[in-house]
Amino acid sequence: MKGRERIHGPALLHEGPRKDSRPSDSGLCVTLAQEDREGIHGPAVQRLPIAIEIRMAWKTIDRTTPVVDADAPPVLSDGVRDKIRSFFVRYETKRAVLLPALHVVQHALGHISWQAMAEIAEILEIPPSDVMDTVSFYTHFWTHPKGKKVITVCRSLSCELMGGADMLDTLKKKLNITEHETTTDGRYSLVTEECLAGCDHAPCLLVNEKLHKRVQPADVDKLLADDSNDRVTMPRSDLFDPPHETSESPNGADEA
Ligand code: FES
Repeated sequence: MKGRERIHGPALLHEGPRKDSRPSDSGLCVTLAQEDREGIHGPAVQRLPIAIEIRMAWKTIDRTTPVVDADAPPVLSDGVRDKIRSFFVRYETKRAVLLPALHVVQHALGHISWQAMAEIAEILEIPPSDVMDTVSFYTHFWTHPKGKKVITVCRSLSCELMGGADMLDTLKKKLNITEHETTTDGRYSLVTEECLAGCDHAPCLLVNEKLHKRVQPADVDKLLADDSNDRVTMPRSDLFDPPHETSESPNGADEA
């Protein structure tokens, strides 16, 4: 071993005294110093003046700062609460209503804030951490405000091969944002997802729930300028959302 070497696993526990420990962007960084240690491989005695740096695979999280203001007014209206409770009769437990509740809240507020999670937890009589676990698992749910329209670009193989990356780059330049950001006018948010089920017409993107196929960089200006670029004509469930207004898209894009 020479100089600095990255080592994984429990062997680190035996490598010498801990000299330094500090949080870093990539996780907890612990530096150990080991001097004049004999090598363990081969008959020759080997002196190993080394420094060992451990980079943990996780980030340190501040769990001491409250994320919900206990004195803030509730964010869920009586109507939203009643809508969530209306699902109780359909499920055996209140916990099972979590996913419908998240859909209801996101539809009402546009995203699910920390406080909204706490209030959902109270209604369903489950720990707030269970709500957060579910929210953070599904990319469908947003924890911060999103734009009026969300553009979801496919990043899977077929679309990638057909120029999806160029189309995404063009979108980023035109919107002046990158992934998971929202334009300053609040009009668009941009994300990427795996296959959107339109592989035979790659590259694809969604504007809200409207699927646009064979989108080339040259099409981006026209797409963004089209106020109807999120209109869908397929019948949809009104279980969670009111039915959308229907019309043919002037840009001729097909639907999912
Ligand atoms: S790979 Fe893009 S829609 Fe399937």
